[in-house]
Amino acid sequence: MLMEGQGVNALNHLTIGGCDSVELCEKYGTPLYVMDENLVREHCRLYKNSIDECYDGNGLVFYASKALCNLEMIRIVDSEGLGADSVSAGELYTVLKAGMSSEKICVHGNNKTDEEIEFAVKNKVGRIVVDNITELEKIDRAAKANNTKQKVLFRIKPGIDAHTHEFVMTGQIDCKFGFALETGEAREAICEALKYENIIVGGVHCHIGSQIFESEPFKEAARVLVRFMADIKAETGFEMCELNLGGGFGVTYTEKDDPIKFNKYIEEVSVVIKEECKKHSLSLPFIMMEPGRSIVGTAGTTLYKAGAIKDIPNVRRYVSVDGGMGDNPRYILYQSEYTALVANKAGDEKTEVVTLAGKCCESGDLLGENMPIQKVESGDIIAVLTTGAYNFSMASNYNRIPRPAMVMVKDGESRVIVKRETFEDLIKNDI
Ligand code: LLP
Repeated sequence: MLMEGQGVNALNHLTIGGCDSVELCEKYGTPLYVMDENLVREHCRLYKNSIDECYDGNGLVFYASKALCNLEMIRIVDSEGLGADSVSAGELYTVLKAGMSSEKICVHGNNKTDEEIEFAVKNKVGRIVVDNITELEKIDRAAKANNTKQKVLFRIKPGIDAHTHEFVMTGQIDCKFGFALETGEAREAICEALKYENIIVGGVHCHIGSQIFESEPFKEAARVLVRFMADIKAETGFEMCELNLGGGFGVTYTEKDDPIKFNKYIEEVSVVIKEECKKHSLSLPFIMMEPGRSIVGTAGTTLYKAGAIKDIPNVRRYVSVDGGMGDNPRYILYQSEYTALVANKAGDEKTEVVTLAGKCCESGDLLGENMPIQKVESGDIIAVLTTGAYNFSMASNYNRIPRPAMVMVKDGESRVIVKRETFEDLIKNDI
């Protein structure tokens, strides 16, 4: 299985965005993160066009920068007309430095520090998503001090658990994010916010989970939130006019994953929003969503060099690569499954099943177990697919291993967008 934008050339090498992956390794070294620019742009357009088509363009797509945040990535999503969500001052700093205009930025966080609130308000970000009552007053104060009014959305727990293929309505969800509906906490926070002079109540937000494959949980979340908007209007007379449904759309990691096209989600959710608004006599809200993984996930591939190969008879075959949990902690954290292949034998049949191990001093440092792959020899280039989201952004320097470079490929050309860390980088803050 290959991802979109990938192929096999006459040398039997994996190609990504028209570039020979083996040549990329020779040029830039390994491990190497490779991002396919055309694919990222295609995903941005799918989202943007479907809002235009299904919802008369009355919305904005924020790229969830936590999935992969660096200057060039933000420039690309910006140039496609998307905004960005940031969840820390570091992400916000990067997004601003990339030149995105602040009204296209949405700021998140369940524990925004005073400095983060000040930084966001001072830079006139379009929206801050309020997570808890503690920060409401701080945002008002910061807005007053900066002689401005800050638009906010309220993060609601809609009581939908969509983390697995099954989704269930829960009475009271145990979650550190947002305001509960069933306790009246969300209603109270909004009523409180309406009293603040320097706060503009825009609307509501929810994020029901990540790597979700069905559209039903998103539709249910939309129903719950529109009903809540109607309740608030009935009680206070105030009509909120913005609805942000978060991110969470699933992508393909292995053959088992079968996501529906993102535009289909938007099509279906738009119908629900229109129906519910009609039912409750509400105007159609401005809609927002925050995809991260589905913009960058399948556009990323990590290339490693295979080193030690160890056979444990009747147990398993370990193939160790020159990266691991430092550049991709998702297997050790979530047992996330990936597809791997030998990039220099890409067209061969997969005849082996191996455990792909990293080089860290940690038994759990694996990239996957029981992975079907071509016959591997030491020195081969191993490609792990769908590493665009939550790999670079969750990478660490454990064992003082420098983080890999990232290259962007497009139409047969490649360019470095993040330099490989050096040993000097590793000690630069040490005194
Ligand atoms: N909006 C909010 C408020 C979020 O918390 C998230 C993800 C997103 C949008 C983007 O969700 P996406 O479209 O990427 O699913 N580290 C985990 C994923 C954590 C997601 C956290 N929130 C992983 O590697 O799977």
